[in-house]
Amino acid sequence: MTGIKIISTGSCLPRRVVTNDDMAALVETSDQWITQRTGIRRRRFAAPEEDTVSLALGAARAALESGGVPPEKIGAVLVATFTPSTLVPNTACLLQQQLGLPQDVTALDLNSACSGFLYGLRVARGLLCQEPDRYVLVVGSEVLSRVVDFTDRGTCVLFGDGAGAAVVAAAPEAPFVWTAGARGDAQALRCAGITGSGGPLSPVVQMDGREVFRFAVDTVPRAIRRVTEEAGISGSQVDWYLCHQANARIIAHVAKTLAQPEEKFFMNLSEYGNTSAASIPIALDEMNRGGLLRRGQKLVLAGFGGGLTWGAALMEW
Ligand code: UT7
Repeated sequence: MTGIKIISTGSCLPRRVVTNDDMAALVETSDQWITQRTGIRRRRFAAPEEDTVSLALGAARAALESGGVPPEKIGAVLVATFTPSTLVPNTACLLQQQLGLPQDVTALDLNSACSGFLYGLRVARGLLCQEPDRYVLVVGSEVLSRVVDFTDRGTCVLFGDGAGAAVVAAAPEAPFVWTAGARGDAQALRCAGITGSGGPLSPVVQMDGREVFRFAVDTVPRAIRRVTEEAGISGSQVDWYLCHQANARIIAHVAKTLAQPEEKFFMNLSEYGNTSAASIPIALDEMNRGGLLRRGQKLVLAGFGGGLTWGAALMEW
């Protein structure tokens, strides 16, 4: 079984910045509450002309360009999202067309909510085992501002829009240790899809925040421990931990449970809020462009979210 390496990254954020004070004009909340309870200060919301496809396209183009990757080298495109603009065609097919990817590409959307990018990496690895001489483009893209209830202060202040992308290659010598799970739960975090009534779709995110918090601080450290143990390394040998960017308090809990310094846990949620499947690839791109990542460093990615789903991956940069 081959390992994988991320050879380039890209991201695309809407230009519109929405501050905590802006949110306080909509619901009964405050900058102080949001900052203290979550670490979020701002988020980006898509303009009417932006959507999951345009953000995914921006992130994917940036990843291809920064890696000097010609479109014909892409053998599969995977888009993790639970806010697609259309169910059919899927977002990945629209990227095939708009990026000029070859027609013999595998084009797949996948929905594992906030764990989607991590699940995507695993699928990419499987595809690369079969076709190691081409690359897989893995994208996370969301417009959560279109599915939040702007009367529910418990959810609407948390989420933001954006997209991140990574070009992934087979790397036989590189480690890739992965764990994941799913525990079906339609109460803790939910967003409706096509309903039995056949009426118009109006999906809205509903969440039991405390329950998801408890789930995250229980599951994520265990998943991380599992991949480091399987890789035969200690937590301190990991150079960077990159957790799904949902809440700074969750990340602080994870660091404490693992007895690792918080400085090793990259965070950019203060700027973008929780962008679900896009949060890890956006953060990876920021780390990459900011010069924080050096080849050979050990990186643990960890996600959790609706489903409920979770996953962690240990890989080498
Ligand atoms: O991608 C995965 C998706 N989700 C998550 O990761 C979310 C995980 N959960 C969380 O991050 C936290 O549970 C929240 C940030 C959602 C909530 O923080 P909390 O510390 O767990 O607050 P809480 O739900 O226990 O609520 C405490 C109080 C309540 O008031 P009472 O009942 O004590 O009077 C809430 O009504 O805070 C109130 N509250 C707010 N107050 C001001 C809830 N939301 C807000 C708000 N502004 N935006």
